[in-house]
Amino acid sequence: MIRPTTPLDADRLVELTAATGYFRPVEIKALREVFDDYFREEQAAGHRCVTVDKDGELLGFAYYAPAPMSDRAWHLWWIVVGAEHHGKGIGSQLLHHAENELRQREARVLFIETSSQPRYEPTRRFYVKQGYEQHAVLRDFYSTGDDLVVFRKLFGPVSDLSPPL
Ligand SMILES: CC(C)(COP(=O)(O)OP(=O)(O)OC[C@H]1O[C@@H](n2cnc3c(N)ncnc32)[C@H](O)[C@@H]1OP(=O)(O)O)[C@@H](O)C(=O)NCCC(=O)NCCS
Repeated sequence: MIRPTTPLDADRLVELTAATGYFRPVEIKALREVFDDYFREEQAAGHRCVTVDKDGELLGFAYYAPAPMSDRAWHLWWIVVGAEHHGKGIGSQLLHHAENELRQREARVLFIETSSQPRYEPTRRFYVKQGYEQHAVLRDFYSTGDDLVVFRKLFGPVSDLSPPL
């Protein structure tokens, strides 16, 4: 089941994210702060975080937020599935859940940022498979030779909406 993330999930989700081996310590520290801010104020300000919960076992999460001062542009801040569950369709379910919600909220576009490092090649493939276009590359953004790669998906008009899940 995909459900709203609660404060009780945060420790396990941080642990699960660190255990993927994809993120630097500074990013794991930032995630802890993201959760703290989310429960303190950002949830009320419209940010969204959802958890995949299989009978009490947390398998992953997605965090998405509206881009300030834009017309219905959103960012996917985080999407993570526990390493032992990669490649089983859970990330796809999370992304579809987020997209369905954003369509209901009449979002116009969702942007996703990732790194150009070889380690993130499967991640970039995942976004392309989910119908995202590689939209921009900011060369040497993270460090020399490590670019910021921006993906995006445009949403159709509201009349194209499928019924809510
Ligand atoms: C990227 C991620 C969210 C995808 O979730 P997932 O549940 O593994 O993906 P799904 O099973 O829904 O989709 C599988 C597809 O995703 C891609 N993929 C990305 N990472 C993969 C992985 N570690 N293992 C298997 N497939 C992966 C493949 O293209 C695969 O399709 P294919 O087998 O036909 O090539 C997940 O692998 C993950 O948490 N990775 C580490 C963290 C990360 O990179 N997060 C995004 C930061 S920008």
